Amino acid sequence: MPLFKTINFSRTVGATAQILVWKVTESYAELLEQVVLNDSNRIRLDGMKSEMHQRAFLSVRKLLQETGHTDLDLYYDKFGKPHLHGEKHISITHSHNFSAIIISEETVGIDIELQRDKIIRIADKFCDSEFQFLSRSFETENKEEYIRKLTVIWGAKEAIFKIRNEKGISFKDHINVYDFELNVKQTIAELHFDSLVKDFKIHFEEIESSPESFRDEQVKQNFTLVYVFEK
Ligand SMILES: CC(C)(COP(=O)(O)OP(=O)(O)OC[C@H]1O[C@@H](n2cnc3c(N)ncnc32)[C@H](O)[C@@H]1OP(=O)(O)O)[C@@H](O)C(=O)NCCC(=O)NCCS
Repeated sequence: MPLFKTINFSRTVGATAQILVWKVTESYAELLEQVVLNDSNRIRLDGMKSEMHQRAFLSVRKLLQETGHTDLDLYYDKFGKPHLHGEKHISITHSHNFSAIIISEETVGIDIELQRDKIIRIADKFCDSEFQFLSRSFETENKEEYIRKLTVIWGAKEAIFKIRNEKGISFKDHINVYDFELNVKQTIAELHFDSLVKDFKIHFEEIESSPESFRDEQVKQNFTLVYVFEK
């Protein structure tokens, strides 16, 4: 499938961001013949154990090409964080059959996550202050809303981590996501770490994936895409 979604985002004059989402339906071979890869990424690709991961990795190169870049414009630092040669910032994410990138003049982070029940079991590993507003969903026994909100919080914290990339950041202890409504699609968060306080603007979109797109599972799967800017 070609490009699934593009979001052109303008924060302030001169500060724009482009978010592109790919739904991976192509085979490994199809994707491979359509992209350019630098030597180190070719080696990385060959070493990946899962074909889904390989296809997602290649689909990110398709997204790059949509923005006028190629893999040759991309490099990774020693932490695994991707950078573009030149002035612009990039962040990358993939989950199952979706991948997404954000390219921006400002430092940014992006994360895409499948919404799943399992997140309820691990909520206390990455939430703390958020339980104050999450309890509302619990009290009304709205499990679906609870899962959707937890997935936003998880994605926001992953995306903030991708921006800051600092060893020792705890999702639970150092990042607070503020109360939000799902239909508003944005919130704010604070990182308190190493005597520094940083504020972040969180934006999110929910993506519904049609059941027929899954080859082995005929179930509807929803994803949450979160992208974050430093305030
Ligand atoms: C690095 C990390 C952010 C990747 O996130 P993920 O949800 O596993 O995977 P995603 O598909 O969303 O992101 C993967 C992409 O992130 C990027 N990435 C990897 N390391 C990165 C880093 N240190 N900083 C910024 N971006 C990074 C890469 O582009 C990578 O894809 P690519 O190598 O194919 O280009 C994550 O594994 C991590 O280490 N998180 C922090 C650890 C933590 O505290 N976990 C939870 C505690 S409760």
